[in-house]
Amino acid sequence: MAGAEGNGIMKRMWTGVGDFFDERFDMRRVIKEFAEHNVPDHVNWLYCFGGITFLCFLIQLVTGILLAFYYQPTMDQAYSSILHIMDDMPFGVFIRSLHAWTANIMILMVILHMLRVFFHAAYRPPRELNWLTGVLLFFITVTFGFSGYLLPMNQLSYWATKVGSEISASMPFIGPSIQAFLLGGAKIADATLTRFYAIHVVILPVTITILLGLHFLMVRKQGIADPL
Ligand code: HEM
Repeated sequence: MAGAEGNGIMKRMWTGVGDFFDERFDMRRVIKEFAEHNVPDHVNWLYCFGGITFLCFLIQLVTGILLAFYYQPTMDQAYSSILHIMDDMPFGVFIRSLHAWTANIMILMVILHMLRVFFHAAYRPPRELNWLTGVLLFFITVTFGFSGYLLPMNQLSYWATKVGSEISASMPFIGPSIQAFLLGGAKIADATLTRFYAIHVVILPVTITILLGLHFLMVRKQGIADPL
């Protein structure tokens, strides 16, 4: 009897909390709209890659923030801070490995998502703007990978960045300026690391969040494309 009474009190308390937020944010209507939204019949497992890409992004966000508590973006400290992450940070090896593996999986997933959209011809009107937003999202995903690769400042990072920046320098006319902008000088140094870090943890996350907002808004407005 006492148990049933306790349950009743808890239920009233949660309903009260729900009412409080509902009066302020009209959230029951929004939750109901999401929960009762029907998935079209033709949607099958091929449609999961966009969602998995988004899940990868969320994992990157959380693990990236945790890594940022320990990582130091200077030529002297970068590599030793990575060792510090692996040796002393709680779950450091797990969090760093999750970040590195998910980065690769995210690129694979975004490519599969793009192929799914392409072969279903879901880029056709009225979804052409969403395809263009997607192209930007693809470049951002790849740039996340490239800018993150330098951060550990090991041999692989150094040479991959050197080759990458030299490839951009070979572009006619604007190539050398792009290289100078990326490196922040004539060679890979502290300025390069600072720039790559700023790109990796501020510019790209802010841009991808805005673009994902637009991407999802358009999917929501236009619905999933009909089968061919
Ligand atoms: C971070 C990258 C991306 C994320 C998280 C993402 C996420 C999603 C999600 C969740 C959907 C709903 C349907 C589905 O999953 O198939 C979707 C639809 C769509 N995406 Fe992406 N996407 C990304 C990149 C791209 C790229 C690279 C392209 C193409 C260049 C693209 C083009 C589209 C189009 C046209 C639709 C509508 C498809 C339809 O109506 O059938 N997206 N996206």
